[in-house]
Amino acid sequence: MTDSAVLATREHWRTRGGFILASIGSAVGLGNIWRFAYVAGENGGGAFLIVYLLVVAAIGVPLVMAELAIGKRGASDAVAAFAALAPGAPWRYLGWLGFAGAALILSYYSVIAGWALRYFAISVSGNLWTGQTDGFDSHFQSFIADGVSPVGWHLAMIALTMVVVAGGVARGIERANMVLMPLLALTVVALAAYALSLPGSAKGVAFLFAPDWSAFGDSRMILAALGQAFFSIGVGMAVFVTYGGYMRREYGIPSAAITIAAGDTLFAVVAGLAIFPAVFAFGGDPAAGPALAFVTLPRVFLEMPAGAIVAPAFFLLLSAAALTSMVSLLQVPTAIAMRRWRLRRSTAVLSLGGAIAFVGIPWALSYGPFAGIAIAGVPLLDAIDYAVSNVLLPLSALGLAVFLGWVIAPAQASMLAEVGDARWAAVFVWLLRLIPVCILVLMIVQLSG
Ligand code: PHE
Repeated sequence: MTDSAVLATREHWRTRGGFILASIGSAVGLGNIWRFAYVAGENGGGAFLIVYLLVVAAIGVPLVMAELAIGKRGASDAVAAFAALAPGAPWRYLGWLGFAGAALILSYYSVIAGWALRYFAISVSGNLWTGQTDGFDSHFQSFIADGVSPVGWHLAMIALTMVVVAGGVARGIERANMVLMPLLALTVVALAAYALSLPGSAKGVAFLFAPDWSAFGDSRMILAALGQAFFSIGVGMAVFVTYGGYMRREYGIPSAAITIAAGDTLFAVVAGLAIFPAVFAFGGDPAAGPALAFVTLPRVFLEMPAGAIVAPAFFLLLSAAALTSMVSLLQVPTAIAMRRWRLRRSTAVLSLGGAIAFVGIPWALSYGPFAGIAIAGVPLLDAIDYAVSNVLLPLSALGLAVFLGWVIAPAQASMLAEVGDARWAAVFVWLLRLIPVCILVLMIVQLSG
């Protein structure tokens, strides 16, 4: 195909609303639903929330703007977009980093999404309640220790993702998000309203919001806010470079970036209001990570009057939110492969999806047959998650900020990001210039601690 033929067949979002929903769909995922609320509760509640909002505004929004700006200008995949701005320079490897990083994240993210899908299935069939002979904890432990079932659910989630991405940008990704995102919003609001109506729910609200001002003196709290913001918004993996490549000229960049970051944050807060009031109302333990969603909450669902409806709704919410993130992660390498190797979309999706599914198998087995293989005593799945959120995401976000903040001329950077006002343009460029410093400090403190 000649370049002009590529341009003529270039995909676009059908509507601005569809583009925004797909982008919020990418941001909202497993990271929002229980991780945010837990990290907030443990790091000073309302005090953490203030710092988190500052981090999202000062670091999250500029980085999303940077990604969208590069993507919109390139009007192509992530590798081509970086190459177009810096022909012949090594900055295009940031696009390849997105290719590899997005594929890697997808390979283990899908395992946890598979757990959620499995819990949705057993809460519909009723097994969530009847199958718990030894209690919820040992049920969960024996499920993830199984050598077959977690792999099967992981493959099911990858297959769903492949079906959506194979449909194309507008007819697959945009359409799926147009259906799923409003449903997700309704579900989480309904769950929060119900949870808040339970007697004793106020303690959960306090856990989330009561500010513990002493947390301000703790550098770990700021680091926790930074790490949470990177993962939750999902910057650094070229997802917004890729999605920005399908923007139409009239969609504005700053308004889109603000809407995406605000939508992601609002979703996390409402999800926290759905989870913690319910946990506290039934005397549950607001424990960390997987245990909260797969052990504590099922116990809470069993006790609450509307549990038979709330449980499937919650796990469907978790699976669907994960799916819309997974779709964006698969689209990054798919777009690159289609252009670079001139593959048809279906061929690219099948080969990449197949490879990613395969790479994910060890993660799916990391609490079962592969439990013996651990990195520094940490199970494989936890080790890869740690490496991604503490090394890969910060480093690629750092590269992105250096590129647009230091390499590209300030006037061009603010022009690309469509910041017209001179004062805001200066703020934008200076924030981009400071972000690499913040990230380096974060990484050094984290890796040395
Ligand atoms: N933001 C997603 C979540 O909160 C995960 C994600 C990370 C998506 C990186 C895309 C890129 O679950």
